[in-house]
This record gives sequence, structure tokens and C-alpha cells, in this order.
Amino acid sequence: MADKYTKEPPVIAAIDIGTTFTGYAFKFASNDTIYCAVNQTELRVPTCVLLNPDKTLRAFGKDAVEKYEAVMSSAEQKSHFYFRNFKMSLYKPESGDVKVKISDERGKDMDALEVFKIALAHMKNKILQDIKTRRYFDTPMMDEEIQWIITVPAMWSDFSRNFMRHAAESAGFVSEKTRLVLEPEAASAFVRSQKIVIKGNASGALEKGHRYIIADLGGGTIDICAHEILDKGRVIEINRPCGDYGGGTVIDQEFFSFLVKLFGGEVFEMFKTGNRLKFFDLLRDFENKKSTFSKSTDEVVIDLGGLIHLYQQKEKESTSEMLERSLYGNKVRMHENKTHMYLSNRTMKEFFEKSRSAIIKNMKEIVEESKKKEQAHSVHFVSWWAFRIALHKGMYQRRIRGKTTSRLCGRR
Ligand SMILES: Nc1ncnc2c1ncn2[C@@H]1O[C@H](COP(=O)(O)OP(=O)(O)OP(=O)(O)O)[C@@H](O)[C@H]1O
Ligand SMILES: [Mg+2]
Repeated sequence: MADKYTKEPPVIAAIDIGTTFTGYAFKFASNDTIYCAVNQTELRVPTCVLLNPDKTLRAFGKDAVEKYEAVMSSAEQKSHFYFRNFKMSLYKPESGDVKVKISDERGKDMDALEVFKIALAHMKNKILQDIKTRRYFDTPMMDEEIQWIITVPAMWSDFSRNFMRHAAESAGFVSEKTRLVLEPEAASAFVRSQKIVIKGNASGALEKGHRYIIADLGGGTIDICAHEILDKGRVIEINRPCGDYGGGTVIDQEFFSFLVKLFGGEVFEMFKTGNRLKFFDLLRDFENKKSTFSKSTDEVVIDLGGLIHLYQQKEKESTSEMLERSLYGNKVRMHENKTHMYLSNRTMKEFFEKSRSAIIKNMKEIVEESKKKEQAHSVHFVSWWAFRIALHKGMYQRRIRGKTTSRLCGRR
């Protein structure tokens, strides 16, 4: 006889709309397998939304990036709406500002609620479709049979959390069947499901009484929480989850404000709006260089597309004259008639500084805080680069020496 789960299968499905990447996962109560996107390349897709002129969804994720780049060279681009990094609009919205607006790539405003609603509805459909495609059940899956989880940053205000709840409801998520979960809490649940080597002992799940800190450094926020494992897989919070705005996109912003200081706001804006394909190439190039940058990198070469040429044309000045005159000229090298910029290791490191200080400050606070009670036994990092920053900056040696540290996700 089929058990109740094969007949009425409860499913838990989670959606993580990140500042830069979005992903989902689901599992059936009847087995322990966790399902993610069928296609490995779609495990996490860029959080980008392309809307038709009538504000209906045209594409999401990688598809949106490609389609937008395709319409960019046509007159169509003016009437479409393209949003990337839109989660940033909820980091610090004005209190009481119920109508948060966000600007698309060309500066056209739209209600943030509408954009989040479209993104969430798309992810919901994708998951429902995925469940169907896998043909796990003979009978179609009913929406009510799913417990939905939507992750949100720990540092979000009540306003932003309510906003997300609102967006979910308008996207068709039934409120009694939808839970918002803090991003580091989700990472914490993942830690507990893993086998981890503790100080040279055999690998195993973290045991009762184990206290650990977990840091998720994303594209927008740094989210940290500290837990102690109780019995039956339950946990207790050792510290209140904390966080800051200081994720990977802060590094990008530092780089782009450096370009503005160097070339001037007007020229930079002309470059950005005049040749969006080249601007997108520049975004990608910086992303690559940022991700592979390390203390042994000698010099970073960035292709600025037509920016140098545009500057020379507009300002009637050579790059050497500009660099001589500029306060920031000693930080870079450029050659006349070339499109590249050469950044020293030191200059590149400066773009990381804001984010780095935010990670160190928050980690120190939580480590010190936990020391007042009972010290944590281990520290876990969700992203590879948070881990690298912490290790490189001597934090590991000074503050968390002797702890087991782990990197949880296979990100670069
Ligand atoms: N090796 C690296 N060095 C520096 N930054 C990196 C590296 N690898 C990834 N990043 C940055 O990490 C960010 C993506 O991290 P992640 O996928 O955790 O963010 P997210 O989940 O989209 O954002 P959030 O959780 O803050 O909303 C991007 O800004 C990316 O540029
Ligand atoms: Mg994230």
C-alpha cells in the first residue's frame, strides 16, 4: 500500500534571491534527496530581470542577460526594463517608505514590489515545472502541498522582511505555507547536515554542545550567526545574527567610483549609456579580475573598452596629461591609443578595503561576544573569498586560532 507521502507528498521548496545570483532547491518528505536545478549551469543564475514594455516578464537569469544584450543594439532597448542587483533596494529603504522604487538599467523607475513579485513568481513556476519534469509523482503536485521557504539577509529591517512577505503574497505564495528564513540560518542548517573534520578527528556531523559561527558573505551583505547544537538536531542562538552591507558588489562600486574620479562623472556616464555592450564587457572583465585577484597578483589589466578614447575625444587631453593632473594618476598606468588600464596590486587591494573592514569588524564582534559566554568551537564561511580574506588578514591566526574553519559552498 502506498504510504501517505506517495499519495500526498509534502514538499519543502526554498528560494534564495541573492543580490547577484539566485537559486532554488526542494526536497520531498519521503526521501532525503535535495533537488536543485536540473542543469548544472543553472544552479545559480544571475539575479537579472528583463521585462517587456508592458512590464510582463520577458526573461530571468542568464536568459535575461543574453536577451538584454541582444536588444541593446536595437531601438527596442528603450522600451524594455532591465533590472540587476535590485535586491540592494531593500538594504536601507527609508523607514515607512512603502513604495520603494527601483531604477532599471536606463534609469526608468518601477515599484520594487512589482519587480520582486515577478522574480518570485518566476522562481515558483520554475520549481513547480521542475517537480513536474522529474515526474516524481504520478499525480500532479498541488501548490498547497508545498512548504515554501524564502531566504532574507539577517541584517534586513522588519520593513524589508515585511516587504518580501508582501511581494511573496502578491506572487501567489500562500502566507500560511510560506516562511522567511534568515540566510545565515539556512547556511547553519546546511552545516549541520554536513560531515566536517573537527581538529583532525574523523569527519562527522557536528555533535551536541558544539558551538559554531557561520559567516555568509554574499554579493550585497555579510550575514553572520552563532549557534550551539542541542539534542535532536535543534539549535540555540548564541548571539543575535548580525551583518552589514559589505558584500562583493561593494568592491565593484569602489572600482567604478574610482573610474568616475579618474575620467569624470560626465565622461563615464556617456560611456555607460552610449555603449552598454562595452560597459557590460567591462563589468564582466572586472568580475573576472576581482575573482582571481590574490596577493601574488603582480598587476591587474582591465580592458576599458572605449572609455579612454572617449575621454581623449571629449576632454581633448592625452592620457598621460590626464594622469599627471589627476590625484589618482599615480595608481594606474595607461598607454595612448590602447584600451587597457594597468592597476598595481596595491590599488586593486584598495577596492576590497571597505568590504574587508566590514567582514573583519563583524567577525571580531561576534567572536568577542561569544568569548564572553563560551567560545565557539568552529567557524564556517559560506563563500570562498570571505574565507580567503579572513585568513589573509591574520584574523584566523589572531582570533580564531585552533578552531576548525570550513568553506561551505563551491563558489570561486
Ligand atoms: N573570488 C572572489 N573574490 C572576490 N569576490 C568574489 C569572488 N567570488 C565571488 N565573488 C563575489 O561574490 C558575490 C556573489 O556571492 P553570492 O553568490 O554569495 O552573493 P548573493 O547570494 O547573490 O548575494 P546576497 O546573499 O548578499 O544577497 C559577487 O559580488 C561576486 O563578485
Ligand atoms: Mg546569498
